Amino acid sequence: MPPEKLYVLHENPAWYAPLAAAFDRAGLPHEQWLLGDAVLDLDAEPPAGVFWSRMSASSHTRGHPYAKDQTRGVLAWLAGAGRRVVNGRRVLELEMSKVEQLAALRAAGFDVPRTLAVAGATELAAAARKLPVPFISKHNQGGKGLGVRLFATHAEFDAYLAGPDYEPPVGGITLLQEYLAAARPEITRVEVVGGEFVYAITADTARGGFELCPADACVVPAAGGPAQPSLFTLRAGFSDPVIGRYLDFAARHEIEIAGFEFIETADGRLVTYDVNTTTNYNAEIEAVAPRPALAALTEFFWRLLGSAADR
Ligand SMILES: Nc1ncnc2c1ncn2[C@@H]1O[C@H](COP(=O)(O)OP(=O)(O)O)[C@@H](O)[C@H]1O
Ligand SMILES: [Mg+2]
Repeated sequence: MPPEKLYVLHENPAWYAPLAAAFDRAGLPHEQWLLGDAVLDLDAEPPAGVFWSRMSASSHTRGHPYAKDQTRGVLAWLAGAGRRVVNGRRVLELEMSKVEQLAALRAAGFDVPRTLAVAGATELAAAARKLPVPFISKHNQGGKGLGVRLFATHAEFDAYLAGPDYEPPVGGITLLQEYLAAARPEITRVEVVGGEFVYAITADTARGGFELCPADACVVPAAGGPAQPSLFTLRAGFSDPVIGRYLDFAARHEIEIAGFEFIETADGRLVTYDVNTTTNYNAEIEAVAPRPALAALTEFFWRLLGSAADR
């Protein structure tokens, strides 16, 4: 038998480097499994090991339009063979649909933004009139701020729909959403690894806008200008009871690794609007965090490889 390994299912090699470096430092055997154009032999036996799905909702933007459906099949095949999968089949569906995230959050009693999910484009302009202004539009299958825009008036939205900047969402579903006016210009992201809280970070929305990917691979260097301070800050000492509620939610939905995003509004609400199950960690945060996520991940996978070997 070959040695047991961690297999990481994904489609973006740029996001793998920091994970690979952390696993290598700890001597954890790992291999990336790039999804996209490939053959899956349903009669084959999957390799021995533990599998971690990191299939991203934005895979189609990197030239991998089939990666999502291929991952669905691979995860069903792995489950059929009894393999231990972290962030498996059910989690993939949450990753791919903000409607599924919001419905599940709402059912669990979280405050979520009022949201209309609109299939196709014909009803968009009329549906938007059910929301007061300003409002947000975004793609149901999103990630990295895809299609996230703020509209001050309905007429502005009509003009956007008719104009050259309109990008139809993959899968055809657009969300129209209540705009959450934040008490401070920031969002908070709570990172969960192996079902445990590791840390919370804030992202500066005054400077960062809507594209708030914390991965180093997402940073666009400023052309020739002075180095900018990071958009991300460790939210040290964050201990709100919402953490425990996220952990319960994660356990109930078999989410083992995720970042939960919320906004604290000017009128005192704490509103959760995004569950990232393909989460990336910021190197500057990792360097100062009392419990770095990459170390927690490595410990978690060591434990799983150990118990997979015992079976
Ligand atoms: N309803 C909203 N009100 C105010 N800001 C929002 C709202 N929804 C999203 N944003 C802003 O846009 C960013 C990206 O939206 P999000 O739903 O997290 O999509 P993605 O999955 O692409 O990250 C958020 O981090 C936040 O800054
Ligand atoms: Mg987000």
